[in-house]
Amino acid sequence: MNPFREDLAARSMAEPCTVVIFGATGDLTHRKLIPALYNLAVDGELPTGVKIVGFARREKSDEEFREGLAKVNAQVSRSGVDERVWGPFIENVHYHQSEFKDADGYQRLAERLDEIDSARGGKGNRLFYIASAPEFFDDILIELKNAGLNQAAEGCWSRVIVEKPFGTDLATARHLNEVVNATFEEKDTYRIDHYLGKETAQNLMVLRFANAIFEPLWNSKYISHIQITCAENLGMEGGRGGYYDTAGALRDMVQNHLLQLLSLVAMEPPTDLTADGVRDEKVKVIRSLRQWDTPEKVAANVVRAQYTAGHVDGNPVPGYREEDRVNPRSNTEAYVAVRLLIDTWRWSGVPFYIRMGKRLPKKSTEISVHFKDAPCVLFNTPGAGTPGGNTLVIRIQPDEGISLRMVSKIPGNNLRLEPVKMDFHYATSFGKASPEAYERLLLDAISGDATLFARRDEVEEAWKFIDHIERAWHASDNPPPMAEFIAGSWGPREADRLLAQDGNEWRRL
Ligand code: BG6
Repeated sequence: MNPFREDLAARSMAEPCTVVIFGATGDLTHRKLIPALYNLAVDGELPTGVKIVGFARREKSDEEFREGLAKVNAQVSRSGVDERVWGPFIENVHYHQSEFKDADGYQRLAERLDEIDSARGGKGNRLFYIASAPEFFDDILIELKNAGLNQAAEGCWSRVIVEKPFGTDLATARHLNEVVNATFEEKDTYRIDHYLGKETAQNLMVLRFANAIFEPLWNSKYISHIQITCAENLGMEGGRGGYYDTAGALRDMVQNHLLQLLSLVAMEPPTDLTADGVRDEKVKVIRSLRQWDTPEKVAANVVRAQYTAGHVDGNPVPGYREEDRVNPRSNTEAYVAVRLLIDTWRWSGVPFYIRMGKRLPKKSTEISVHFKDAPCVLFNTPGAGTPGGNTLVIRIQPDEGISLRMVSKIPGNNLRLEPVKMDFHYATSFGKASPEAYERLLLDAISGDATLFARRDEVEEAWKFIDHIERAWHASDNPPPMAEFIAGSWGPREADRLLAQDGNEWRRL
């Protein structure tokens, strides 16, 4: 459902479909996808007649699969478990066992989907969700095509959602795009980035383009710089180290989530709210990033770091290299800070700073827009205090909301100034929790709206930027150093120096 276009929502909501999830025994299916579909059912937003087929390699009966899902759903669903909803919901969930590269398994799937369609007496709409390990993405797409499942019957649709990681560099992303586009049309391809489904990320466009007061100031004349922080207190729990140590913070979070947030903050107003109208503007931002394409530029604008043993939430935690499934001699970053410049008329000379780290003091994602100081001519009275500039903070999570820092006079007979905050909290203003990102995104894909999904060119442009940095880091000759910070602190000193060169400092969260 396009959050900005009610007409589209009303038109397309009702179509029943079958959602086939590849990698159905995995964590994502259990912790995110099934709970999201269930929550949609609780809210009455899941179109009637939606069936779910879990596709995976392990032998399991429908019943065993359903039992496993019930256990996890009971722990993680935001709405608890309402048996009146869960009962009918889970009856529509089936399991299909097959290897990912087994033509026969896909033929059997095609037959099963036909049976489901005729039992439902409806159309053969299909949504294929590829949530397996990335090494199977190609096989799944090719086998879907061989079995003719990429083709929709007359009047129906067939779409694919591809989970991250979408490649590990530009070459692999291009290859995957070739395979996807040889199988499904681009308009039926949904590259998921769950940060775009977060409520406050969606609200960014509304904040900027539905309020007349921000946009006139949203440029280099009034903005000194912009920070995007994605802090996590977790490390490599739950066996994540195996994957993470091959990826690192830059590939895992910056290439996708943080550059997507950046493009929403920095984009020009789209001419319309169609999926391509919005994505045309977002991709221009990523294309306009100044490239850090020499080792010197990387050293001057990017900081990578690993954490050493420390304390998070009062508990002792190991250093990155001592984490489960991490190579003890690992050269992978668990923290990255990047200074970016966007070479457009609007943003000329405004630095954007992005940082992401594991084992920081708390989980928090926010964007802060730092406005230039007012000319201090009137209030530079000795003893008045330094007023500082205005800051607009957009809290993506937790405690979603928006606050504006202003300067006020402290009551009394003397002129003394102090910053104060105007604060908007979603939870108190709207009295209900925001839906999970996967709920919104699954519903969008079922409804045929790709606005909140990454387009091919966005993904490839982002990889171009990232590849230069990775190349410099992995150069045999004089690669930029790996900084260190103590787990539970706010990152390495080198990241502070990155901002200090422009006379700025990281916002304290
Ligand atoms: C994932 C990354 O895409 O996003 C993880 O692979 C990260 O490393 C996660 O922890 C963060 O998502 P969220 O929604 O918890 O901020």
